[in-house]
Amino acid sequence: MASDELITSAARRFLKLGGLAGRVGASVVTNQAIGLMRSEPEQVARRTENLVRNALRIVETLGELKGAAMKVGQMLSLHEGLLPPEVAEVLRSLQKEAPRVPEEVMEFEVRGDLENFDELFESFDFSAFAAASIGQVHRARLRDGREVAVKVKYPLIDEIVTADLKNLKTLLKRLVALFTDADFEPIWEEVRDGLMAELDYLHEAENIRRMAALHAEVPEIVIPQVVDEATTRNVLTMEFVDGISPSEACSDRYPSELRDRWGTVLSEFQMRGIIEHRLVHADPNMANFAFREDGRVVVYDFGCVKEVPPELARAYADAFVAVIEERVTDLPRIFAGIGLAMRDGSLIDVELIEPYIDVIGEVFRESSYTFGDDNQEIYNEIIRLGFQDWDAKTDMQFPEDVIFINRSLSGHFGNLSRLRATGSWRDIVLKYARPG
Ligand SMILES: Nc1ncnc2c1ncn2[C@@H]1O[C@H](COP(=O)(O)OP(=O)(O)O)[C@@H](O)[C@H]1O
Ligand SMILES: [Mg+2]
Repeated sequence: MASDELITSAARRFLKLGGLAGRVGASVVTNQAIGLMRSEPEQVARRTENLVRNALRIVETLGELKGAAMKVGQMLSLHEGLLPPEVAEVLRSLQKEAPRVPEEVMEFEVRGDLENFDELFESFDFSAFAAASIGQVHRARLRDGREVAVKVKYPLIDEIVTADLKNLKTLLKRLVALFTDADFEPIWEEVRDGLMAELDYLHEAENIRRMAALHAEVPEIVIPQVVDEATTRNVLTMEFVDGISPSEACSDRYPSELRDRWGTVLSEFQMRGIIEHRLVHADPNMANFAFREDGRVVVYDFGCVKEVPPELARAYADAFVAVIEERVTDLPRIFAGIGLAMRDGSLIDVELIEPYIDVIGEVFRESSYTFGDDNQEIYNEIIRLGFQDWDAKTDMQFPEDVIFINRSLSGHFGNLSRLRATGSWRDIVLKYARPG
């Protein structure tokens, strides 16, 4: 029953969104992107369009996986020299539309998973209060009186995600091959493993415990506790913790000083994650945060956390300091230390790096910087740079470990822009990145 309903609703969504796929697909491959292709442009132009169209169709039909597919697009678009920024952009520009699963189906799922359901819960609201990418979140009260948020996976989601990732891989691999000879396999494995890990709420519960322990001494970060006895692979029960929603927090309803404070707390959370704890909350979507009037920030969603190898943490720290101290010529050597180099082993030409540092360095040049409206320009400039020196970039090699970390960093910059936060970002970075 559940399976039929899911399939029907996926089909309905597909019909509705089919128009969008056609529209975006037709316009995606511009002359600029075609110019970057590795064989005769005219011959492959049509093939690319078909691939993009198919990739989109899969992304559209994924439904339940759409969040995951967007994440794939997001990460690939950050990986220089893999897909022209414009093509990758299509994959992440899709808006997520949550599926609707009838309440009875969700009740059936929860009761099936938690045998002692009636002993655990005093009440349970089977209509969801929030959508999750592979499930939905319900409010409930435990017998001991605690208010909880219960994240419940959609039925059959493991099977759907597994099957869709397979399809997505085939398409993306062919799409990437049009533009570069880079080995797609290790990149894909990193992305896939990250997404598959999100299917296991026991794994997420473990991540929450680790993160909470690391932040036990950090009062400005609030992490909801897991309720172990009501948590399984498919059901994650946490204490209910709320705050000001991101859209409210970013509005003018709150004074700029408070938004600056939240921006600072988020930045410290980032830096601590990469450099000090070496455990990064790798899903920086603003919906994964809520805000408090006392300046604290609530963090949700630990389905995707990334362990940072020590030498990589050191390299990020060294690179941050070099950018701040405007020692761009040191960067190729720092990068090479973690395997970020040309495929023949030589250092990356500093001229390939410099334009990016010019743009990003602005945030750190003055003792205080305000994120805001002009950041769209920074973003556009980075997209434009993505096209520049394409041939050289496709000959670069990246350690896969940077994919989730860079995604987290770029999402974080986006969040600071939404908050229009002013801060001494330079000092925050140096506080964590300076050795000793
Ligand atoms: N413990 C909690 N207390 C209150 N709200 C929560 C809690 N956990 C999650 N939520 C809400 O549910 C939303 C989805 O949960 P999240 O863990 O982010 O799911 P997903 O991993 O699918 O993105 C969050 O953005 C947040 O608004
Ligand atoms: Mg989330």
